[in-house]
Amino acid sequence: MGTQKRCLISRAQIARQVAELAEQIGRDYAGRDLVMVGVLKGAFIFMADLVRALPFPVEVDFVRLCSYGAGTTPSGEVHITKDVELPLKDRDVLIVEDIIDLGLTLAFLRQHLLSHRPRSLKICCFIDKKERREVDVPLDYVGFPVEKGFLVGYGLDCGEHNRTLPEIFVLEND
Ligand code: IMP
Ligand code: MG
Repeated sequence: MGTQKRCLISRAQIARQVAELAEQIGRDYAGRDLVMVGVLKGAFIFMADLVRALPFPVEVDFVRLCSYGAGTTPSGEVHITKDVELPLKDRDVLIVEDIIDLGLTLAFLRQHLLSHRPRSLKICCFIDKKERREVDVPLDYVGFPVEKGFLVGYGLDCGEHNRTLPEIFVLEND
């Protein structure tokens, strides 16, 4: 039995949705002073497209997070391996993430960034994968809802493979 990739979201669909999100964010943050915090590594491609589609310049920063699941039980333990560097106090902050699954990563990051006392904190997540959610996280901007499956491409990897593909694929066993 091998694993196959099936294209789930095309380049054109991605481009349309990024433009749509940029328009919404552009409207919502007009006249404000936005800092976008991207979650490495997965969000780097989405964030690069998103910031260039916005009608105004923004500041960017990045965090890198690791989750350690102990065997079969999701541990809920998330560690920061690279923290934000810009001061976020009293700033309008938007988290940019590639995909949400259990919700542990974004729930942790949200609490962590709230401790910096930003003026506002919202979340933009490109893929909302719904089936396995364990923690409710408020998502303010979503690119695509999907039910389930392991996705690769457009920043998403499987053991560091397929991250740089320009489309999003779902991995399937044949
Ligand atoms: P969770 O919401 O805490 O389960 O973690 C989400 C993180 O798991 C994302 O930031 C990804 O790094 C990774 N992840 C979850 N689902 C996928 C997937 O389908 N493809 C690639 N990475 C995924
Ligand atoms: Mg990620």
